[in-house]
Amino acid sequence: MRIVLLGAPGSGKGTQAKKLVADYGYPQVSTGDLLRDAVTRGTAHGLQAKAAMDAGRLVSDDIVLGILKDRIAQPDAANGFILDGYPRNLAQAESLEGVLAELGQPLDAAVLMELDHEVLLKRLTGRRSCSGCGRVYNIYFLPPPADGRCESCGGELVQRADDREETIGRRLDVYRAETAPLVEHYGEIGKLRVVAAEGPFEEVYGRLVQTLGL
Ligand code: AP5
Repeated sequence: MRIVLLGAPGSGKGTQAKKLVADYGYPQVSTGDLLRDAVTRGTAHGLQAKAAMDAGRLVSDDIVLGILKDRIAQPDAANGFILDGYPRNLAQAESLEGVLAELGQPLDAAVLMELDHEVLLKRLTGRRSCSGCGRVYNIYFLPPPADGRCESCGGELVQRADDREETIGRRLDVYRAETAPLVEHYGEIGKLRVVAAEGPFEEVYGRLVQTLGL
């Protein structure tokens, strides 16, 4: 199975992708995670990407495509993958279609996670991630333990640099201008599915699994 999770920042793509990974074993390919990893390791791509990410803008298409191709060439992605955060504009969607055509592995579906603006803001401002293992919490919806450390590894919980209020607005603007047109694109090629992303984690997951026919 090869699917794209589409949706605004904070719509729950990463959360739901992790649950699909746990239940079905397809790897999650998150370009955001791959870019943050490149930034942390200080690679050439990471250094180029950092300024755009911190400002809430998209990283250049060629950098992200290079990172994506390397990742989906790994053996664990041979039987399918869940794309989280890619593509983010029409040029990236076309690049993806080219890469998948070369591999002879067409996309099965693009799932739009649909959510109200007000809820998105709360999810983003409330998100905290473990600096050790990456586990994601939310001070409003999925609170961490009272001691403020990660339940899995005891690591320190941090707020993503781009989850500050001043940057969130820019990310949502970029989503509306550049990524939202993909909804029409995937509708036109008959791959679009839509999932209501409000409500408890398990309910959203139930709708997602049903939509995908899993
Ligand atoms: P990226 O990391 O992809 O961020 P994003 O798309 O902005 O998405 P988020 O990770 O913010 O949200 P999500 O939908 O995964 O939500 P989550 O599950 O965490 O990209 C970051 C940056 O990298 C971009 O701005 C750009 O600069 C660059 N980039 C990445 N890909 C790129 C590309 N292809 N091209 C160019 N640049 C690229 O959930 C959010 C919070 O809500 C969490 O706290 C979670 O616990 C909570 N939550 C989730 N579901 C629920 C629920 N049902 N109920 C209550 N709370 C919930």
